[in-house]
Amino acid sequence: MNATVRPRAWVSRPTFPDVIARLEPHFQVTAEPEERVFPPAELAAKLADCDVAIVGLKERIGAAEVARAPRLRMVANLGVGFDNLDVAALTAAGIAASNTADVLNESVADYAWALMLGAARRVGAAERWLRAGHWHATEFTAWLGADVRGRTLGILGMGRIGQAIARRASGFGMPVLYHNRSRLPDATERACRARLVDKAELLCSSDFLVLVLPLTPQTRHAIGAAELAQMKPDAVLVNVARGGIVDDAALAAALRDGRLAAAALDVFEGEPGVHPDLLALDNVLLSPHIASATTGTRRAMTALAVDNVLALFGHGPDAGRPPNLLNPEVLAAAGAPFSTRQEPT
Ligand code: 8YV
Repeated sequence: MNATVRPRAWVSRPTFPDVIARLEPHFQVTAEPEERVFPPAELAAKLADCDVAIVGLKERIGAAEVARAPRLRMVANLGVGFDNLDVAALTAAGIAASNTADVLNESVADYAWALMLGAARRVGAAERWLRAGHWHATEFTAWLGADVRGRTLGILGMGRIGQAIARRASGFGMPVLYHNRSRLPDATERACRARLVDKAELLCSSDFLVLVLPLTPQTRHAIGAAELAQMKPDAVLVNVARGGIVDDAALAAALRDGRLAAAALDVFEGEPGVHPDLLALDNVLLSPHIASATTGTRRAMTALAVDNVLALFGHGPDAGRPPNLLNPEVLAAAGAPFSTRQEPT
């Protein structure tokens, strides 16, 4: 590759400029200066004009976008979840895809606990009440919440984030149940002090049920009206995974009717929209998809996306071996390292 003609990298959202700058010796970088949603035609045009796209979850890249982006060689997703990408369509077109697995596990686990504790102890509602100027005297029996210690934690989806959530439970003396496609190795189960159960038992035995599974056609509405009906009426549901795994309308109805004590949600069906019935309830703690949002973790996610791009194009310590490739068959077929499909004009 001619060193003076650098491939084009497009970064769809403002991140950490000093981290993105590591691309500059090798790529012509265009980083969007503000956070926004690109209408489909504009997204297609952006993708058609670059060799590498570093994108977030709101950039939905499917077969139609791929068909209109003949020079595109790689999509690096700023997130561990990649339901915004049609990996099969990317693979068929020889476009590599990567995610940011693992660097966010601990931050997301911390946040799941923040939501569990916050929902159990009604932190959001109490704060709103105080800020509204309602605190004139302290009533001994006001704002009673639920205890967390010693109660049963259920985890649906026991990947690395689920395991990090489980490890924290020993400090709270909580037995941990999990349901997953496959059983964890014995040593991991022991480290997590977690026991595999079927989904029905998980639903009916958990006092706190945390969702950490990817969104796929199979997991869509994994928690709907039927599943909510199996949960204990004093249970708390926490979703730090993806909107769409929970049927938000069914959840709002269960919370409103007292069939479920509380919920805490970081993700929503149709986000950034939030179901209006949820917004009307005080027993649900809501946050704007921020479970991975610590400075260190969002920097690490950006750095990992950059590392994957550099490695795919044959640069840096992992040259030719991008650490988080979702479709390694593309690299195998192309032969490492990648180069541009056509020289930029
Ligand atoms: C987002 C996430 O990436 O990693 C994921 O799958 O959902 C988050 O970490 C983050 O909110 C940026 O959009």
